Amino acid sequence: DWVMRDHIAEAVEAIRRQVGDEEVILGLSGGVDSSVAAALIHRAIGDQLTCVFVDHGLLRLDEGDLVMEMFAGKLHAKVIRVDAADLFLGQLAGVSDPERKRKIIGGLFVDVFKAEAAKIKETHARHVAWLAQGTIYPDVIESGGAKSKKAVTIKSHHNVGGLPEQLGLKLLEPLRDLFKDEVRELGVALGLPHEMVYRHPFPGPGLGVRILGEVKREYADLLRRADDIFIQELRNFRDEASGKTWYELTSQAFTVFLPVKSVGVMGDGRTYDYVVALRAVQTSDFMTADWAELPYALLKKVSSRIINEVRGINRVTYDVSSKPPATIEWE
Ligand code: XMP
Repeated sequence: DWVMRDHIAEAVEAIRRQVGDEEVILGLSGGVDSSVAAALIHRAIGDQLTCVFVDHGLLRLDEGDLVMEMFAGKLHAKVIRVDAADLFLGQLAGVSDPERKRKIIGGLFVDVFKAEAAKIKETHARHVAWLAQGTIYPDVIESGGAKSKKAVTIKSHHNVGGLPEQLGLKLLEPLRDLFKDEVRELGVALGLPHEMVYRHPFPGPGLGVRILGEVKREYADLLRRADDIFIQELRNFRDEASGKTWYELTSQAFTVFLPVKSVGVMGDGRTYDYVVALRAVQTSDFMTADWAELPYALLKKVSSRIINEVRGINRVTYDVSSKPPATIEWE
């Protein structure tokens, strides 16, 4: 629509004025905010933008390829994909404490990104002067206000502070004034697929906090396949009354890997395999949340598909805990 087109034109003009003929680096995560920021900045300055996409090996099924297809393939943006799965999984070996896992993942993320940014600064002919971030208005409020006064850290999030200073870069935050739904509208107007722009949130540490205890590649591979089935069926099943899919009717839904084995039976044989839990919640602010009353037919389909298609998992459970006292993620 016209309002959005005007808004894009204005934002593009502002970015061009701000950046001039300097270059910009942006950390692409596959999430909504960094994706929309990347698309907007790319629209404004094209090849003066270099995106860095750090794949920590804890992303969802095919996520890395999809990000590359979209940004490098369709938008023709400059994207460097750093395959750091070995590094992350290596450092996580033997670590089962949730907070330590978060710290390790967050710390490595910064290290890898910094190393890549330094390389870009060295090799690019033009002056690399900017670090772009997909900060949105609620982030701005959160970091200045109530959140920092909280006495207890329930979960340490790894949104990176201090990085621009350390890199000697100025901050470019073109989404700073926008609310989430405005960011989504902007993303669609910029040509990003609806499916990407209306995705459920995904935590920075990724599957690292959805594999309970020690993270292993084997667990991540099983979890990715199980979770993909769950998400597919949430997108397939529609609620008659509202006409919406259950993916749209839930605020966040995912699968959790439990590193315990239970006995099952398949054909003539006994199995002794892993357990997963399905989690689906409805919430407006993620501070409190209700577990979603998914239709039994959906749960049934997901359960039978996971157990039949993912060898190594023989039991599926559904999490019926609300927040509080449970949290949305299991770690
Ligand atoms: P909890 O589990 O605290 O989650 O109820 C609330 C929301 O925050 C997300 N979350 C994270 N996001 N880094 C992130 O970027 C994190 O370490 C992290 N931990 C939780 C969670 O997915 C939910 O949307």
